[in-house]
Parts: sequence; C-alpha cells; structure tokens
Amino acid sequence: MAADSASLSPTIEAVGAAPLARPVSEPASPLDDRAAGLRALEAEVESCTRCPLSATRTRPVFGAGNPAADVLFVGEAPGFHEDQQGIPFVGQAGKLLDKLLAGIDLDRSDVYIANVLKSRPPGNRDPQPAEIQACEGYLFRQIALIAPIVVATLGNFATKLLSGRPHGITRVHGQEQETTLGGRRVLLYPLYHPAAALYTPAMLRVLEADFAKLPHLLGREPQAAPPQPEALAVQRPEPAVQLGLF
Ligand code: URA
Repeated sequence: MAADSASLSPTIEAVGAAPLARPVSEPASPLDDRAAGLRALEAEVESCTRCPLSATRTRPVFGAGNPAADVLFVGEAPGFHEDQQGIPFVGQAGKLLDKLLAGIDLDRSDVYIANVLKSRPPGNRDPQPAEIQACEGYLFRQIALIAPIVVATLGNFATKLLSGRPHGITRVHGQEQETTLGGRRVLLYPLYHPAAALYTPAMLRVLEADFAKLPHLLGREPQAAPPQPEALAVQRPEPAVQLGLF
C-alpha cells in the first residue's frame, strides 16, 4: 500500500539548545499500540512493490528493537547479511554499533534500528532518489509510531533525508537539532555511519565521542566523560564499504 509520505514528511525548524527531556509533542501511544502498529506496518513492507528493489531483495529489512525506544537509529539500507536475515545491522558495522551501544550502557533491546531503504540495493550501491522517495513514508510512519526522543541518523543518506538539507555528515555530525518528523517533535542527531568508522580510526574516535553525548540528549547522566576527539582527518573509506557514508 502507498505510504502516506505527504502527511508525514519532515519539517525542519531552528537549531537550538538541546532540551533534556522528551520534546513537546502528541502523547505517545501505549507500548502495545506501538508494537501492533509496527507489526501492521511491517506486513505492508513485506508485500511492498513500490520500487524495483522488491524484485531483487531476498527479504525486506523492516527494522528491529524496542517499539517504545527513546532513541531510533536510522541507517542507509540493508547490506548482504541483512538481506539474508531480514534484520538490520547484523554485519561488521552492526557489531560496531553493538559496541558503541554497550559503551553508553544500552543494547539493542533498548533502542530501535531501521534504515532509509527497506530493501537491499544490488551490490550495496547507493540508494537512488526514486528508491528513497518510494520508501521514505515507511520510515516516517515508524517514527510516528515509536515516538522516540532522539532520531540518530547514521551517515549521509539518513541525515540528508531527515534533515531536509544537503549538508554532509562530516559537517553536521554530533550537532543535534530539534525538528518535526512523522508528526513528532524529536531531536535529530547525525552520526557517522559505523561502516565508515570501521576503516578510519580517526572517524571512530569522533563517532565514540558523539555517541557519548547520547545519554545527555536522552536526559540521562552520562556513564563516563566523553573521550576528546582528535581533529578529524578526512580520509577515503576502504572501497569495500557502502558508498555515500560521509
Ligand atoms: N548498513 C546500513 O546502513 N544498514 C544496515 O542495516 C546494515 C548496514
């Protein structure tokens, strides 16, 4: 079924000081309603043929985690392993994501993880604009249902889509901004994509430092002082990783 992207498209508002509690918005639904809403939406995605990727995917990757999560991570698109298993971030980048979560005392059962695209682009090529347009409504509806405090975008594609701006992740990472997504007031928090950080130690240190700010954005005490990032030396990623991550 067609996703209602018209009524759920993002609106970007002023960058401001980060509030320490849930941004003012409609009250979130009870946990059971959110879980049921996500299951119904997942069933739509299972049978979705809105873009040609539906013909080449092994299975769609809807997203996974806590339906009432305070933080929603949004990656780019499923890769080979995700396409095989139907679960987001199960490859090397996912292992790093797990480590980063553990570093702030969270695990996958605390958060929700989704992607811009629900189907794998062949050969891990970049998502194309028509594919993003076909799929984005599902992401906005996930945001509306989960009603997170923080939407943490991983890499360029998620950041550009959800900020509505062309600025790349190298420029905007670690800078939260309050905005409306899926009809919800949220803090948008751009982060480097873990797949990019896997191969670039300087980028990993920046990602760790940005991750260390998450508890504060969620209104919690950080577990430890964030590490000081070194000046970011922009390096080319290894060719094996997905492109468009910066
Ligand atoms: N990279 C992504 O962006 N998403 C995944 O699910 C896996 C790797």
